[in-house]
Amino acid sequence: MALKLRRLSNALGVEVCDADVSKPMSEAAFGEIYQAFLNYGILLLRNQDITREQHIEFSRRFGELDRHDALPRDRHPKHPELLLVTNEPNPDGTPSDSRYTGRQWHSDMSFTTTPSLGSLLRSHVIPEVGGDTLFANMTMAYETLSDGMKELIADLHGIHMSGTRKIANEATGTVRAAEQKRINPPVAQPVVRVHPETGRKALYLGEKVSRFDGMTEEESKPLIDYLNRHATRPEFVYRHQWRKHDIVVWDNRCTMHQALGDFDETQRRHMERTTVLGTPSGYVVAA
Ligand code: OGA
Ligand code: MN
Repeated sequence: MALKLRRLSNALGVEVCDADVSKPMSEAAFGEIYQAFLNYGILLLRNQDITREQHIEFSRRFGELDRHDALPRDRHPKHPELLLVTNEPNPDGTPSDSRYTGRQWHSDMSFTTTPSLGSLLRSHVIPEVGGDTLFANMTMAYETLSDGMKELIADLHGIHMSGTRKIANEATGTVRAAEQKRINPPVAQPVVRVHPETGRKALYLGEKVSRFDGMTEEESKPLIDYLNRHATRPEFVYRHQWRKHDIVVWDNRCTMHQALGDFDETQRRHMERTTVLGTPSGYVVAA
């Protein structure tokens, strides 16, 4: 059966029309979805009014799921496979710790030595307007660099740090950042990553990268800033406007993303994410 696909932008992303992940799906049918995921970097599945168990079960088809030991504060209390991205206050009334998750360009779990293959984010509650997410195609970003730049960055490793949020929860931000740094020491990742399935090279950077291994921050920053700016040029980006019960699946090996926070924060935004484990990449460095 041929899937009905609708492109989301010139750079990346495709909507799988008429998908229903609550129904049993054959290996062949899932294979077509997985191929679209590899081809377009992002999948959108609309109107998935499903249970948490169904979200988890569908996600498992992409691979083994992360139980989020690297992000213990943000797990769903009953389902460790679900990571909350929510501004709904905690049961005791204190502000949620995950309200500012993703507000910088990043690829999920890049600060670990088994960075994620892909993530499946589902919208439960969305604000009236805004709360959009940006996605960038890092394969395109790499391929559009000059030969000179490709040569210059070929063997560089970027040091990815956890606990580097630009905006943090007033109440728990500092404690959380310290805790994140303790659980997750800095990890060096290749700046040019070869996609383990497609074999294509992609830039692997983002705003969690502080410096290149073997170089100072001062030396590294201009090039990191340039590459991040280049990678997030509008022509490499898709901006997702959420509807309730959307599932967006992204390939963390060749895309990065950012939550914009372009909404009225007195309104509720509640998202839940599963994270598919990837293959080993990078090495731990001394802080
Ligand atoms: C994430 C993330 C972005 C958003 O769930 O990994 O970065 O818009 N979320 O909520
Ligand atoms: Mn993320």
